[in-house]
Amino acid sequence: MLAQAAAALAGSGLDNLDLRLADAEDLDFPAASFDLVTCCNALSYMAAVSAALRRWHALLRPGGRLVFNCWAENSHATGHLLRSFAGTHGIFVSPVGHDTGTPERCHALLAETGYSRSEVIVEPTSKYLSAEHLNDVLASALKSPLFGIAADDVIRIEALRNEYLEAARSKEVLESLEREMGAYFVVAYR
Ligand SMILES: C[S@@+](CC[C@H](N)C(=O)[O-])C[C@H]1O[C@@H](n2cnc3c(N)ncnc32)[C@H](O)[C@@H]1O
Repeated sequence: MLAQAAAALAGSGLDNLDLRLADAEDLDFPAASFDLVTCCNALSYMAAVSAALRRWHALLRPGGRLVFNCWAENSHATGHLLRSFAGTHGIFVSPVGHDTGTPERCHALLAETGYSRSEVIVEPTSKYLSAEHLNDVLASALKSPLFGIAADDVIRIEALRNEYLEAARSKEVLESLEREMGAYFVVAYR
């Protein structure tokens, strides 16, 4: 990502950007030194969501803003289909993004982590996610510790791959993806 950002920057005419590799949950910058903190499609996948939000709050100047996106807890983006499919085979797949999985939970968590006010804009998931993603989510879930799938169960799910892909192509699932209001865009103020 940094190499791509550096390539995009070269020749852009912008000279006020500084690219750094860091753990977003453990940023080493002076307190109250940012007007804006943004986080694109990553908060739901972090290990300690509320600690990260507190940390970012401390980085913001008074009146500064945090802007991020996240997903409804039952969104297809967080592996909802895989979770329910695996469940019918007695296989556990962890919830992802639970702490920010409803607009109410987003507001409550942001208040608890120090933000004075927050807004959550909800949009149709299908604006951001295609049916293809339902295939990709299987590959990510089998690799990522976030989904908490036991090693033996990874092998069992691999064996059920075709059945899962068939479910992912079903009319019912494609329609539910089309209907889903699961993309959240959040602004929170220090
Ligand atoms: C779904 S990807 C999104 C990537 C990119 N932001 C985008 O929108 O295409 C989530 C990313 O969050 C990153 N991530 C998760 N926890 C992180 C952390 N503590 N610090 C930095 N990056 C983290 C992962 O490495 C992964 O690249």
